[in-house]
Amino acid sequence: PRKIILDCDPGHDDAVAMLLAQAHPAIDLLAVTTVAGNQSLPKVTRNALGVATLVGITAPIAAGAEGPLERSAEYAPDIHGDSGLDGVVLPEASVALDPRNAVDLIIELVMSHEQGDITLVPTGPLTNVALAVKREPRIIERVREVVLMGGSARSGNLTPVAEFNIAFDPEAADVVFSAGWRVVTAGLDVTHQALATPAVTERVAAVGGAKAEFMLDLIAEYGRRYADVQGFDAPPVHDPVAVAIVIDEEQGGGHVDVVRAPIAIETAGKHTTGMTVVDLRPWVVGEGRTSVALGLDADWFWDLVVAALR
Ligand code: BDR
Ligand code: CA
Repeated sequence: PRKIILDCDPGHDDAVAMLLAQAHPAIDLLAVTTVAGNQSLPKVTRNALGVATLVGITAPIAAGAEGPLERSAEYAPDIHGDSGLDGVVLPEASVALDPRNAVDLIIELVMSHEQGDITLVPTGPLTNVALAVKREPRIIERVREVVLMGGSARSGNLTPVAEFNIAFDPEAADVVFSAGWRVVTAGLDVTHQALATPAVTERVAAVGGAKAEFMLDLIAEYGRRYADVQGFDAPPVHDPVAVAIVIDEEQGGGHVDVVRAPIAIETAGKHTTGMTVVDLRPWVVGEGRTSVALGLDADWFWDLVVAALR
């Protein structure tokens, strides 16, 4: 199995990413680290501990950055609520928070494992990962790759061109995308294909049990908010797509269309700050160490999530 560190800001879809990362046999979840994003660090960390208890994560859980490198934090209460995970009932956490800082834990794990062993899977703002790179640049060549949820080759969600995770901390994203390691990004192009439709909800309901109940509450609340705020008929469940890409790679591929293309982060635009500038010009495609996911086998993706609930 592929060893990963899931760096997240739960967050409804982050919770599903945690579930999938814990349950799938192709993934060996080494740690969950939290970062301010959808809500404040204490809130998303509390949510991470509750979700970990529900889905049976025993790997260490550590809290990291309280806000962006240079900007002030602008959370996403419209999508995720005041708690960061409104509308679900979390069990009393039976897992304790690791005393280490997330940034130190990431560095410690990467440096103590073999070269090329660990894949970083960020599904929130990239602050922790950028801080780890700044503090210990040797992780750049030691990490196998970074497979993250963020950005978009076409249109944004927070602004016309910027996606939330990147726009929350563009300077951190810039560090991560320009570091020189392999980066695969699951942006809105592909995560908007991972829609929790009524057919998906029916499949989840048929599973039964505490995790499925949690997932049904989660989809209902998240779906209502996505309908209100962004006009979606069915909500896009972004973050587990990054985990699914790692699973697909580990199993030989074929379910996600990943295109190699240079990606730059806009940090100084008048109207475009936080944009992922993806160079899809045909004569450039195939260059660079960054890749963008453009197509997803959605039936396969939901099979993974439903299997994780069982
Ligand atoms: C991303 O923003 C957050 O609200 C979600 O958890 C996801 O990581 C989607 O733009
Ligand atoms: Ca997230």
